[in-house]
Amino acid sequence: MEIFKDCIVGKIPMKNRIIRSATHDGLTDPATDGASEELIRKYVYLAKNDVGCIIQGYAIVSPDGKSNYPRCLGFYNPKAAESYKKLTAAVHDAGGVIVAQIAHCGRQTSSKAIGVKKIAPTAKRHLLYPDKARAMTKEDILRVENDFITAIEHAKEYGYDGVQLHLAHGYLLHDFISENGNKRKDEHGGSLENRMRIVKEILKGAREKVGDFPIWVKLSATDKRSKGMRIPYSVKVAKLLEEYGVDAIEVSCGSVQDGMNTMRSKRFPMDAIFAYREPLASMPRFINKVFLAAAKLFNPLIPQPKPLELYNVPAAIELKKAVKTDLIVVGGITDIKDMQNLINEGIAAVAMCRPFICEPNFAKKLKDGTATKSQCIMCNCCGLVIEKEPTRCLMGKVKR
Ligand SMILES: Cc1cc2nc3c(=O)[nH]c(=O)nc-3n(C[C@H](O)[C@H](O)[C@H](O)COP(=O)(O)O)c2cc1C
Ligand code: SF4
Repeated sequence: MEIFKDCIVGKIPMKNRIIRSATHDGLTDPATDGASEELIRKYVYLAKNDVGCIIQGYAIVSPDGKSNYPRCLGFYNPKAAESYKKLTAAVHDAGGVIVAQIAHCGRQTSSKAIGVKKIAPTAKRHLLYPDKARAMTKEDILRVENDFITAIEHAKEYGYDGVQLHLAHGYLLHDFISENGNKRKDEHGGSLENRMRIVKEILKGAREKVGDFPIWVKLSATDKRSKGMRIPYSVKVAKLLEEYGVDAIEVSCGSVQDGMNTMRSKRFPMDAIFAYREPLASMPRFINKVFLAAAKLFNPLIPQPKPLELYNVPAAIELKKAVKTDLIVVGGITDIKDMQNLINEGIAAVAMCRPFICEPNFAKKLKDGTATKSQCIMCNCCGLVIEKEPTRCLMGKVKR
């Protein structure tokens, strides 16, 4: 199969098999949490530059699922509807395809950011978001299921080509399906089928409302949490997702608690951490500098997940053996040769995030043959910038 040829991935017609993986852009219109003009311009540029499908940065389904990153998209405010319709129309006019990723942050936010106590399948602390979550009641679960179903209806109504449920990176639905995040003793915990019940109910409810509108998922097929996601378990999850009628599975990994597992790098980007992460960023300048110098000394000694490239491919290959559902793989994909090999092996599409932050016209360069490999140096500074500002590439250089 060729990469740059018309194709259908997860029931969505696309002009090639290259996907911009969901990336929080930090370009929400603050008045509505909808799409700003800057976001529309950014996505039109990606569409004009040969990205086969843009997966929008995560849009939150319920106000108590908001992120504590600034300017995160939301699908809960009817006032945002027109901006999303304008966005999808602009991307379509530019020849592109756009899928809305929808999420609830669960424990990976702070009660301060959302204005109420945060919720999770089980009351449990998160290493990086230490205020304790409250365990969801059955009423909470029903409400969140309905919020996801409504968000899927909105995605169809707003003109998106499909929707992607965020089951990855430690957010609420990842917590539900993994034993690490879900210690419930009721019908939502204890067995794989019970942990998956919320996803099953969302999909069942959504299908009644949106028919065969494409519904994809992004799954952390592995993570580093104890009793977390491992490939044999994820194979079972994928089989259930296929049974529930999911149209494509994007294979990712990790949770925020895993450190740099989802987006791998040789080292922690210490300069960016000390410039953008609180409470470090607001420390008196002198103390910040001293701590940074000490952290930089120890940084090379901190082990990081390996390999740095193609790290979700083994999981994707195992899932592919088990299901007929289209599989998409993301994580450390940078080279056209690897992309072609993956497509030859039957992976439906390759997804990338940082390569498009670094070079938004990367797909066009690959198509024209003016580039064969991404210039992204995987420094991960962009992953810290988003704590305060819109996403951008720093190429390892933090101005202080
Ligand atoms: C700045 C930034 C924002 C991200 N936002 C999202 C997001 O909204 N939803 C999501 O599923 N993953 C998000 N990710 C993770 C990426 O989609 C992707 O899974 C990860 O970076 C690995 O792919 P890569 O090696 O091509 O960057 C984000 C990553 C970065 C660096
Ligand atoms: S800041 Fe730029 S070079 Fe560094 S990881 Fe992000 S996109 Fe790549």
